[in-house]
Amino acid sequence: MEDQLIIEGGSPLYGQVQISGAKNAGLVIMVASILADGVTVLDNIPRIRDVNVILQILNDIGVETSWGEDGSLSICPPSGRLKSRTSYELAKKLRASNLFLGALLGRQKEAVISLPGGCNIGSRPMDLHIKGFQALGVEIEIEHGYIYAQAKKPTGACIYLDFPSVGATENIMMMAAKTPGLTVIENAAKEPEIVDLANFLNSMGAKIRGTGTDVIKIEGVPELKGCHYSIIPDRIEAGTYMVAAAISGGEIFVENVIPTHLHPIIAKLQETGAYVEEAAQGVRVKAGEKILPVDIKTLPYPGFPTDMQAQMMALLSLGEGSSVIVENVFENRFQVVDELKRMGARIKVEGHTAVVEGVKTLYGTRVKATDLRAGAALILSALAARGETVIENAGYIFRGYENIDDKLSKLGAKVKKQ
Ligand code: UD1
Repeated sequence: MEDQLIIEGGSPLYGQVQISGAKNAGLVIMVASILADGVTVLDNIPRIRDVNVILQILNDIGVETSWGEDGSLSICPPSGRLKSRTSYELAKKLRASNLFLGALLGRQKEAVISLPGGCNIGSRPMDLHIKGFQALGVEIEIEHGYIYAQAKKPTGACIYLDFPSVGATENIMMMAAKTPGLTVIENAAKEPEIVDLANFLNSMGAKIRGTGTDVIKIEGVPELKGCHYSIIPDRIEAGTYMVAAAISGGEIFVENVIPTHLHPIIAKLQETGAYVEEAAQGVRVKAGEKILPVDIKTLPYPGFPTDMQAQMMALLSLGEGSSVIVENVFENRFQVVDELKRMGARIKVEGHTAVVEGVKTLYGTRVKATDLRAGAALILSALAARGETVIENAGYIFRGYENIDDKLSKLGAKVKKQ
């Protein structure tokens, strides 16, 4: 993570930006491809570092993958068994490696998964995933940093999630897609990425209903076939560029988005005084005359996304008054605060609540990305700041944003990667 981004602030951003495929849908769908017999071809997979890690894990367990000249990704699981164990060295690099548990259990009733790593945003346990698997008949043991999972006779079951966890919903869906009987997930996550995963699995022949609501029903089928599928656009990348327009005092047309996925973000941006206009394939955002303070509470979808919390905090740091941000999804997700303070922001954190007192100016300085979205927030602050900002640990940002330096440069930002 030694990369740096150097940004000279003060240029309003103008123009159009093309949004890439959704990281969080792409990662899980790549993993889910191992449930199929035959080749799966995926369009709109972003070229980001997290995708490369999933590719390495796929290759390591025996799956062939290749990029086509048209940018599509082919995933070709062999007809026999895959290696059931994910390597610590690879799995520690990202949290989404835990999704191999559901996919391997669905495929071959057995998995040994290194406890995952990922962004440092709280303890992120896996108890909900594990309870779900146990309900489906999986025996689980956790030893020396590995989860050993085996299902002698898996059968569908009714699973109530205490919290609508995205990863637990996805993991259970993947296993249940090939588990005999009916599985019902209650209090399931409703994120668009869950719907995308279900659409993908259904294209392979799965029988999944109800995604996008609290109750998902999955009738297990004996086999799934490879398919050709295109990933939805990344709503968080889109939201980040929307804030870039607002914070830099510019106007950006954010192309290749599904506007309904952006409604929670659009609503809050409008409250800050930005002008937002929806079109069929895009959203136009123009900075308002001033940035008004707003209160934000992060919640599972369709609530305001935790993955946009830090970026909004950057914007509200320049608001005319005080804003209150409550983080309800993750503990320990205010790490960007200390870095924003180095740039002149006035923010106080008390438990899960941050009070942001808007300031007139942020100043460029040396800061460090502590996680992916914190990194994005620092870029946004740097765009509006006076002088030069050097963002260390920018590798975090490249985990989730495709060509972010190029995209920002085309919009008129003064960005250098080194
Ligand atoms: C996914 C996204 C991440 C996003 C998050 C919430 C991917 C690869 N990552 O992460 O970008 O910020 O959804 O929208 O898709 N929890 C438990 N026990 C569990 C599982 C989760 O307590 O077994 C807790 C977590 O610690 C966290 C909360 O539930 O506090 C939400 O986690 P979850 O929805 O599972 O997020 P991820 O799937 O890890």
